[in-house]
Amino acid sequence: MTEDEQKQAAAEKAVEYIEDGMVVGLGTGSCAAKMVDLLGKKVAHGLYVTGVPTSEATAAQARALGIPVVGLDEVGVIDLTIDGTDEVDPEGRLIKGGGGAHLREKIVASLSDKMIVIAEAKKKVARLGAFKLPVEVIRFAAPALKPKLEALGSTPILRQGKDGNPFVTDEGNYIYDCDFGVIDDPEGLALELSTMPGVVEHGLFIGYADLVLIGTDSGVEVIEV
Ligand code: A5P
Repeated sequence: MTEDEQKQAAAEKAVEYIEDGMVVGLGTGSCAAKMVDLLGKKVAHGLYVTGVPTSEATAAQARALGIPVVGLDEVGVIDLTIDGTDEVDPEGRLIKGGGGAHLREKIVASLSDKMIVIAEAKKKVARLGAFKLPVEVIRFAAPALKPKLEALGSTPILRQGKDGNPFVTDEGNYIYDCDFGVIDDPEGLALELSTMPGVVEHGLFIGYADLVLIGTDSGVEVIEV
């Protein structure tokens, strides 16, 4: 199975959990986009759901498919969020933010009764950290935060956009992609980053995933967290 087929298989399994009338958090990235495509087909066949997108890109995709989308002003609790990941470890801890959407993704996940994570096989890792940890920062603070992120043991690189300027998130911030190597203490690092003034959000998702669906050559692996 190609990676694309693995993503498709995980997305197909995930949409089985969507029930009529649900408020569904719609993730961002290539795997989540497959899920949104499949959901769009179900909506076209009569399923009624309300989508809460985690990025402008996902919102545009959902609208184009006829999935009703709302913001957080219109919903309280989200029944289920389905999102991709950049890494997932055996405890269901994640690194997200490769697409730069982890701030909204974490907010939506935090408001959700259940989070299903979907991914191709290579995203499953024994320990987090091969993928550089995205850290979203206020632009004003970016120059001052680089040495602070280095002092935490990382090599931070300011993410660049396609136009050669720094990448700007949907919320107007910058991202440092931080190479920490293997992250020995994800909880400790998450706390350090969360309490650093100027850091808006980091890509460590700890305690969010309830179910992880991994597309593999022998089918979809279902991991309950
Ligand atoms: C978006 O910022 C990310 O958190 C994505 O969910 C993550 O990067 C996974 O994306 P892919 O499914 O494209 O690998």
